[in-house]
Amino acid sequence: MAQLVSVGALRADDYRMMITDHRFAHDFKAATSPFARLINLLTQVDFANAEGSTIAGILRETPIDGTGLSRFKKFVPDRYARNGVYRNECFELVVMCWPANLRSPIHEHGGSRGFVRVESGSLIAENYSIVESDPETGFARLSLDASRTLTTGEVEIVVPGNDVHRVGAAGGEVAVSLHLYARPLDTFFIFDEERQTSRSHTSQYDIRPFADRF
Ligand SMILES: [Fe+2]
Repeated sequence: MAQLVSVGALRADDYRMMITDHRFAHDFKAATSPFARLINLLTQVDFANAEGSTIAGILRETPIDGTGLSRFKKFVPDRYARNGVYRNECFELVVMCWPANLRSPIHEHGGSRGFVRVESGSLIAENYSIVESDPETGFARLSLDASRTLTTGEVEIVVPGNDVHRVGAAGGEVAVSLHLYARPLDTFFIFDEERQTSRSHTSQYDIRPFADRF
């Protein structure tokens, strides 16, 4: 079994070559760990045509036990950790570990569909609209549309076109969540609500999502 190796923050480009390397090919149908079962199901999904509710249903019905999750339950100080589980051309799975009261920047998903399942603790999810923007200058004025708390086991769907949002740990406690992005989330915009600005951002990993980990 491959060792879980924390390699610090990695740019998506750093490992893009690796995931196409045949050495990382793996038969998930033969594997029995919860993550391997989930990945096996997800690799059979036609993400271009599948309903969001179908994909969310797979997440709801394929729980990850504490043992499976523990390998990715790695926190870093003063920010949330993005711990990659698995990635191919169609989707990626990321475990995010949220220190208490820590929230993400407001961001969108660059055209990817997003699915979030709360694994422990609770998350606050705040949805925004872009009221006014200028791509030339990066100006963006937002308004908060809705805010709700997601408790353990709940699944949230984030759809392109209505994906400006912020997520964070709620209730003064740490939280852990599983995120599915289809396609993988590499480059997207983040927003500063007070300064009314937006800028492009490239996602990074705290643990790289090798496919040979299961
Ligand atoms: Fe998001």
